[in-house]
Amino acid sequence: MSIRTLDDLLAEGVSGRRVLVRADLNVPLDKQTGAITDDGRIRAVLPTLGALVEAGAKVVVCSHLGRPKGAPDPQFSLGPVAGRLGELLGAPVHFATDTVGDSARSTVADLADGQVALLENLRFNAGETSKDEAERGAFADQLAAFGDAYVDDAFGAVHRKHASVFDVPARLPHVAGRLVLREVEVLSKLTGDPERPYVVVLGGSKVSDKLAVIEALLPTVDRLLIGGGMCFTFLKAQGLEVGTSLLEKDMVETCRNLLERSGGKIMLPVDVVVADAFAPDAAHDTVRVDGIPSHRLGLDVGPETVAGFSAALSQAKTIFWNGPMGVFEMPAFAAGTRGIAEAITKADAFSVVGGGDSAAAVRALGLDESSFGHISTGGGASLEYLEGKTLPGIAALEN
Ligand code: 3PG
Ligand code: MG
Repeated sequence: MSIRTLDDLLAEGVSGRRVLVRADLNVPLDKQTGAITDDGRIRAVLPTLGALVEAGAKVVVCSHLGRPKGAPDPQFSLGPVAGRLGELLGAPVHFATDTVGDSARSTVADLADGQVALLENLRFNAGETSKDEAERGAFADQLAAFGDAYVDDAFGAVHRKHASVFDVPARLPHVAGRLVLREVEVLSKLTGDPERPYVVVLGGSKVSDKLAVIEALLPTVDRLLIGGGMCFTFLKAQGLEVGTSLLEKDMVETCRNLLERSGGKIMLPVDVVVADAFAPDAAHDTVRVDGIPSHRLGLDVGPETVAGFSAALSQAKTIFWNGPMGVFEMPAFAAGTRGIAEAITKADAFSVVGGGDSAAAVRALGLDESSFGHISTGGGASLEYLEGKTLPGIAALEN
């Protein structure tokens, strides 16, 4: 891989130079208060930002947050993130209230050596995510004007062919930041020659989101454990009734086909927690998967499933986990996710947690992050990496 790294850039000397850093500061926010509920992605870029600050660069950070529709939308402002980033860096972060307008121009122009600026949400500009090369290019020109060099440390966004990820590096000397390097190094161990048994746990709500990665992983893994909302489509494919559980009807046939081709590698839940409603205080019970009542919906995997999955995980030498096993945000339906997470930490294996959501789950459940081998900041990005897809953000760095 012919990717230049942050160390190469630092070796050239960056003192007094403007360095544009694409970060993924897309953190989860509390729906009511707007407060940052998990700052893991902010912490993850500190090594890169710290090194640049120390070397005396003028550091211009840019990121997206959420999915605003190409125009300013206050609920997706990066303002609160600038505050938190400043606390973590131990120095104020100069926040520009637009991305490439007057505020951004003067904020960048006023930066002293070793200071950090954060631009407002990239996706407040239609050019960021545009499918039109010219529109993306015009926005990339404006962004590139803020840097003498570009660092990509936004691993969570490398699968997006967006202006700040794909087009800006074509316009500036570019390197991979510490986070991007570490993520690629770790994930390449999984696609290379993982130590066996290699066990993958997938959860989350939709089979359709995971189909490509299941297809790509089936030939490589020794076991594929499936929980979360998407298990009900697989259970249906086995001829079971799933009540009012999440079900992707148009995926049942695909799941049946996957099960047939899986050579017994796919393990499904044997029991699930069913509830009267999707609510934290809903009445609920654990039932066998062949006894799901027609009026109830499954919101977690049951204890026997946790035991079976844990036994498989205890044999593993390599583990990849993406997606919660149930609605872990509600304590009544968190036991499955917690149980699987604990089994992963106990296994004598190299373990990778993939995904913004799974990583947030680990922290929300109060689990010790250091007992996992690696917690990826990328959800879609880590899955697409494992699928073997070309990631636009990585390709753009390879020149
Ligand atoms: C993520 O949260 O997966 C990344 O920040 C990418 O966000 P996106 O899926 O909205 O492009
Ligand atoms: Mg996403």
